[in-house]
Amino acid sequence: MGRRWVFLIGLVGAVWLLGSGHGGQQPPVTAAQRCFCQVSGYLDDCTCDVETIDRFNNYRLFPRLQKLLESDYFRYYKVNLKRPCPFWNDISQCGRRDCAVRPCQSDEVPDGIKSASYKYSEVANNLIEECEQAERLGAVDESLSEETQKAVLQWTKHDDSSDNFCEADDIQSPDAEYVDLLLNPERYTGYKGPDAWKIWNVIYEENCFKPQTIKRPLSPLASGQENTFYSWLEGLCVEKRAFYRLISGLHASINVHLSARYLLQETWLEKKWGHNITEFQQRFDGILTEGEGPRRLKNLYFLYLIELRALSKVVPFFERPDFQLFTGNKVHDAEKKMLLLEILHEIKSFPLHFDENSFFAGDKKEANKLKEDFRLHFRNISRIMDCVGCFKCRLWGKLQIQGLGTALKILFSEKLIANMPESGPSYEFHLTRQEIVSLFNAFGRISTSVKELENFRNLLQNIH
Ligand SMILES: *[C@@H]1O[C@H](CO)[C@@H](O)[C@H](O)[C@H]1NC(C)=O
Ligand SMILES: *[C@@H]1O[C@H](CO)[C@@H](O)[C@H](O)[C@H]1NC(C)=O
Repeated sequence: MGRRWVFLIGLVGAVWLLGSGHGGQQPPVTAAQRCFCQVSGYLDDCTCDVETIDRFNNYRLFPRLQKLLESDYFRYYKVNLKRPCPFWNDISQCGRRDCAVRPCQSDEVPDGIKSASYKYSEVANNLIEECEQAERLGAVDESLSEETQKAVLQWTKHDDSSDNFCEADDIQSPDAEYVDLLLNPERYTGYKGPDAWKIWNVIYEENCFKPQTIKRPLSPLASGQENTFYSWLEGLCVEKRAFYRLISGLHASINVHLSARYLLQETWLEKKWGHNITEFQQRFDGILTEGEGPRRLKNLYFLYLIELRALSKVVPFFERPDFQLFTGNKVHDAEKKMLLLEILHEIKSFPLHFDENSFFAGDKKEANKLKEDFRLHFRNISRIMDCVGCFKCRLWGKLQIQGLGTALKILFSEKLIANMPESGPSYEFHLTRQEIVSLFNAFGRISTSVKELENFRNLLQNIH
């Protein structure tokens, strides 16, 4: 008896659901639904769903990650914001006050971080010393052949630079400065319009494997070409599609931040930053963006999964006993390493990790060519960051691209074999302090965006 009732109720429910999906007595669509209706359930190209990510991120990861990122090791990032744009004459200097980045005074940054051979591990430290010695030799002894000098220089740069997805900033340059990320938060700067549009356009148009004849939806050049675009995207191999989705996810994340830290009010006494629902809707509402908004948000979740997977894969590197988050304060550093490992183990326990083994599989030669292509395109995008006119945006753009590049380096490095405890921690694989700081801060941004989506969902629930 009981079972039959349940079955009947289930049937009625299903019919009602079907009915409500097809006109008739439709309940009014709320603003929240218009942004989030398609952003639920399974994500394309992976076996994870949005709800699982929300619960995992918002309640378990986000609070601890915030705490970690406030520590000295992670808040200071060295960056060269004065590199000229390699692609066009960039004359637009953003004069807005909100675009300015205040670099650290030299006494603000802990000495441990500044020391040239920061001791992030003993092994790396020895290596750096050896390199520095070799470099000194190379610099003084001009009898060294040009080839040897070049080799030494290469060697100094990185033992594994061939794995890199980013053009590394020359942080030895006198122009490179430490920036306190907590004092220079990513938020609305007023940098938009043609300049900002140009950057993203160049990234999508020339660097995402897209032929010129196919136009991106909503780009000022397109007119009703969504269908061509999406059938092109669907026809791509999974790697190239992933490339596009990563960039789109990053773009979405940045826009979530700008909408959540919008300059709401400015008086001569104070500035008030907060959520601007209108701005959020203009970027993500399903109707206002002709369906683009929800797709962008899904790409944000995709990016989240990619970075999450990279972090879970690199755990053995951070577990090495000699790895330190070195700032010079022993007690503090040990505490932070414990927090870091706690976070990483939480990440490792996530049940629905992305499977990167589906990438660059198949024919070895073709796969390698594709991987190289992927890397070249990504490096190119890291150089475009030097063309961003607003310094604040340039800072966060460079940091997030370097973070994502580090995640890709981890995912596709053959030196780091994940899930093989018997092989022990890999000592061949290295990350520099810059890579570590950008990796975690970039992931912190995406994690914050996912959390902010919950806030916007709640705010939108109250308007109709
Ligand atoms: C929110 O953003 C919109 C643009 O999307 C702007 O017109 C409006 O003034 C903003 N609201 C506030 C309170 O700043
Ligand atoms: C790099 O980017 C520039 C500027 O967008 C573009 O002209 C060039 O074709 C790109 N090169 C590669 C290899 O993607």
